[in-house]
This record gives sequence, C-alpha cells and structure tokens, in this order.
Amino acid sequence: MKVTFKIWRQDGPKDKGSLKSYPVDGLTEDMSFLEALDHLNEQLVLQDEEVIAYEYDCREGICGQCGVFINGRAHGPHPNVTTCQLHMRSFQDGDTIVVEPWRAASFPIIKDLIVDRSAFDRIIEKGAYISAKTGTAPEANAILIPKEISDQAMDAAACIGCGACVATCKNASAALFTAAKINHLNKLPQGKPEQHRRVKEMTYQMKEEGFGSCTFTGACEVECPEGISITNIAEMNARNLKATLFG
Ligand code: FES
Repeated sequence: MKVTFKIWRQDGPKDKGSLKSYPVDGLTEDMSFLEALDHLNEQLVLQDEEVIAYEYDCREGICGQCGVFINGRAHGPHPNVTTCQLHMRSFQDGDTIVVEPWRAASFPIIKDLIVDRSAFDRIIEKGAYISAKTGTAPEANAILIPKEISDQAMDAAACIGCGACVATCKNASAALFTAAKINHLNKLPQGKPEQHRRVKEMTYQMKEEGFGSCTFTGACEVECPEGISITNIAEMNARNLKATLFG
C-alpha cells in the first residue's frame, strides 16, 4: 500500500509552519495509523532527515495523547475511534492523507503534531478530585449508589482528555471536557461535599485558560472518541448557576 502523507511541520510555537508531502510505500492495511507514521519516520532516519514529532503513550485508546486532525477530522474518519486505534485499511491505496495538529489558541503547538495541552491539567487541578483521607479501602457497599447514577458518572468519567472537543469546536470551547470532569464526581455521593467549589473553580479556570464559550453546536459530541454527551454541558451550566446562587 502506498499513500502520500501531507504533514504539518513546525519547529516551535513561534515558527510559521507548513504542510510537507511525504510519499510512503510498503504500508499494509493492517498497520495502525501510528505504525504508518513510525514507518515514515524510519524512512526519514535513513534519509538523514528530521523525524516527525507526534505524541502517544498507550496506543490503546486510553491515554488521550495521540489526537491529530486527519483529512480535516479530529482522530480521522470514524466516530468513537482515537488516532492510535485507526488502521490504514480505512484509506485507499494512492490516497493523500493530510495530518495536522489540534488548532486552538489554548493548545499552542510545541512541534509538528504535538500541542501543549497543559491548560487541561490546570482545570483538573482546580477540583477534579475528592479530598478524602487515604487509608484502608472502605467497604464497597457502604455507600449504595443507584445504577442509573453510577452509569451516568461512569459515562462522564470515560473522557480521556484528548482535546478533540476543543480542536473541533468553532469557539475552541473546553466545555465538554470540563463538564465531564465535573459531572463524574458531582453525581456521586463522594463528590457532593465539594460540588459547589468544584464547579465554580473549574469553570473559572476554563475561562482563564482562554477557551471559548459553548454555543451548543454539538460538534464536540460528534468528534469525541468516547462519545461523551453534550447533556453534560447543560448539567454543568445548571450546577454552576446553583453553586453561584446557593453555594
Ligand atoms: S496513544 Fe493513548 S489514546 Fe492514543
């Protein structure tokens, strides 16, 4: 299988950057997308050229580090699939595949396809935890949680923080990410004692980081590899109002 990658090359945050073409032969349809990029990098090493910088950790759809735009779509052509779980069988022999980094002012480009997503870390630091004392694990059935609530909390907790929601949103809003991180804790009894402080401080930090406002276009939900629902955003807004009035 032979394709031409058109890949965004950029030396650093201040560099202008541009797309560069790389014809690559010897791929198979069973290769993952990242393995195809590995193959290209091996080719560049042999040609004594600088390799392409891209990010990954788990290659299992868990860590959220591998996100890029592929032919204009976050994580490529399929719904609910991360870049690392995409395979070359999703493309045709002879295709041209355009690969770009996330585009958002709050995610500055570090190099090539790697962006700085530490703005997400700073939102998390403001409240995506509970201040329980560590010690022996409590009895699992000590706090009973209705199945419907635990399911909703688990659905929100599935967010892997990849940033596709921000990158795909015309406002570069981080509302889906922030809402998922707030709701998975605020729904549970363990998260209730700090619920008002959590929603106020995390949404404040989201704005401080320069993310745009949510206008409910729904693009984030479509491109989220974990299928996080935008109902989480409506819930976050309601919780924020309640915390402001009564918290
Ligand atoms: S490398 Fe971890 S989600 Fe893709």
